[in-house]
Amino acid sequence: MLQLIKRCPEYASGYKEYCQELYDNNVVYFRPSNPDMIDEEWFSRTKSWYDKKEKGLIKGQSPSFHYWAVDDGRFIGEFQLRTEFTENVMFDIGSIGYAVRVSEWGKGYGTEIIRQGLKLAKKHGMEKVLFTVNDENTISIHVCEKMGGKLMDTIEAFNDAEGHHLLRRYWITL
Ligand SMILES: CC(C)(COP(=O)(O)OP(=O)(O)OC[C@H]1O[C@@H](n2cnc3c(N)ncnc32)[C@H](O)[C@@H]1OP(=O)(O)O)[C@@H](O)C(=O)NCCC(=O)NCCS
Repeated sequence: MLQLIKRCPEYASGYKEYCQELYDNNVVYFRPSNPDMIDEEWFSRTKSWYDKKEKGLIKGQSPSFHYWAVDDGRFIGEFQLRTEFTENVMFDIGSIGYAVRVSEWGKGYGTEIIRQGLKLAKKHGMEKVLFTVNDENTISIHVCEKMGGKLMDTIEAFNDAEGHHLLRRYWITL
């Protein structure tokens, strides 16, 4: 059964494998950590940074909570939650970031991550989340609409990974 758990050292090697799969497949819709940076000390080296993110101590950024998705000991994917509607959230990354390792696509994990992730968002006190998705990301558009996303608009957007692109913005009421 899929579970969303807080980041922990036990799954750091699984996280590296997941990042490597996304890198090897040139996935641009979600930007994971560079797998080459993930060594034995990576978790302890980055912990204070992620702690600061959760506390909203990174200037100009929404508080951000990072969960890992695991199933029976196997690292499957991740879920990120941003609880404030900052400019970056509204016009690029949205309230939610999620991805599944490529070797596990098409098995229902992405949908389950969103289902559990929306419950977490509610626990964090949110009443709605903004789901942003590249207009060409048909799989994630499908997942978003299946989970109740209501299209607000489509805007022109830019980031380094995706370049200039059309960005769909959906609200999901919790
Ligand atoms: C988006 C992503 C998380 C989906 O994960 P997943 O585990 O494959 O998702 P699921 O198996 O739960 O669901 C995929 C759905 O897309 C559907 N689908 C598959 N290919 C499709 C296509 N070409 N067009 C439309 N729908 C498609 C499947 O039928 C399934 O829907 P269903 O359950 O109603 O039948 C995964 O593709 C991923 O990690 N992509 C890269 C990162 C990313 O895009 N993140 C989201 C950024 S907004």
